[in-house]
Amino acid sequence: MPVITCIEDLKRLHRRRTPRMFWDYCESGSYTEQTFRDNCSDFSLIRLRQRVARDLSDRDTSGTMLGQPVTMPVALAPVGSCGMQYPDGEILAARAAARFGVPFTLSTMSICSIEDVAEHAGPGFWFQLYVMRDEDFVDAVIERAKKAGCSALVLTLDLQVLGQRHKDLKNGLTSPPRPTIPNLLDILRRPRWALAMARTPRRQFRNIVGHVKGVTDLADLTAWTNEQFDPKLDWSKVARIRDQWGGKLVLKGVLDAEDAQMAVDAGADAVVVSNHGGRQLDGALSSIRALPSIVRAVGGQTEVWLDSGIRSGQDVLKALALGATGTMIGRAYLHGLGAMGEAGVTAALEVIRKEIDITMALCGERRLRDVGRHDLLVPEDFEGRWG
Ligand code: GLV
Repeated sequence: MPVITCIEDLKRLHRRRTPRMFWDYCESGSYTEQTFRDNCSDFSLIRLRQRVARDLSDRDTSGTMLGQPVTMPVALAPVGSCGMQYPDGEILAARAAARFGVPFTLSTMSICSIEDVAEHAGPGFWFQLYVMRDEDFVDAVIERAKKAGCSALVLTLDLQVLGQRHKDLKNGLTSPPRPTIPNLLDILRRPRWALAMARTPRRQFRNIVGHVKGVTDLADLTAWTNEQFDPKLDWSKVARIRDQWGGKLVLKGVLDAEDAQMAVDAGADAVVVSNHGGRQLDGALSSIRALPSIVRAVGGQTEVWLDSGIRSGQDVLKALALGATGTMIGRAYLHGLGAMGEAGVTAALEVIRKEIDITMALCGERRLRDVGRHDLLVPEDFEGRWG
C-alpha cells in the first residue's frame, strides 16, 4: 500500500491505473488550457500570513453548507462519468463523502443512476442538473431526484454549449469505450480497472439510458447527448426549474458579479464561482481571481462557494479567507477515486482536512469561521484591471 501524503500522490496513482481516455477527460481544459492552468497557479500568487505564539488548542474545521453541518466546508462537485474513472465510482464517492461528513453532488452525466447512489448517500446528497432540450427528460429527472431524497439541486449554468477539449476528440471519448484495438490495448494495461469494470453492470449513463425514449445503446446515447445541451437556457428557465424543484437551489458556473446578482434575484441559496474547472471558456478569469468581486456583490445575500483549482487545504483556506463560505472539489477527489476507489476518496478528504487544520493553526487561527482577509497577503494587482 503506497503512503499517501498529498493529492499529488493520488494523482500519480490515478494516472497509472485508469485508461488513457478517462485520465485525459479528467485532466483536460478546453482549447489552450490557459484557464485550466490559471485556476491552480493563481492560488500560488496569494500568500498566507504566519502568526505565532497563539493558543492553538481545540481547533475546529467544521462549518455549514446550505445550513447543514459539514466536517469541513468542502463539497464533492458534480463530475461526469465518475463511474468510468473507477467502477461504481459515484456510489463509492457518495459513500466516502457521507462517512466523512461532507456533501456529494451527483452529475446528470453520471454512470451510476440517482437511484443507485441514493441507497449509499448521506444527508448531503445533491443532484446536479444539466438543462437539456428534452423537457420531458428534465421534468422526469427532477422528480427522480426529489424521490431519491436529494436535498439540493445544483443547476449548472456554464455549459449550454460545450468548450472543446482536444484530447477527448482525439481519443474518441465514449462511456463505455468502443472496442477498438488501441482502446483494448490500453485497457489490457490496466487489469485492475478492467476486472472491476467487468464485474459491475454500471457502464453507461444510467440516468439517461432506459429513461429517454429511443436511447438504448451507445450510438443512440452519443447522438442524443451531442444535441441535448440547451442553448436556450436563460433566467426565465432557471425560474421555472426553481419553482418545479421547490427546494434548496445552488447556481453553479458564475464568474461575473452581474450574473451573481441575477443568480441571487433568481433565488439561489448558494452561488458557485466556477469556470467548470477550465473546461468551458478558455481565457476566462481563474475562479480565485473572480471570487472577491462576487463576494462584494452578493456576499451578504447568499452563500458563495469557490470551485475550480482547489488541490489542497491551503487552497481551501485561501478561498475562505477571500470571502467564500464554502468550496467544491472535483479533480482533487477524482484522483483519489481513480487511484483507490472509496478508500482513495476518503484519503483525499483526509489529506485536505489535515492541511486545512495545520494551515489554519500556522496562521494563528483555531476556527475556520475566524479566518479572513487578515490571514492573507494578496498582491495589489491580484484582481487586476481587466476593464
Ligand atoms: C462535463 O461536465 C464536463 O466538463 O465534461
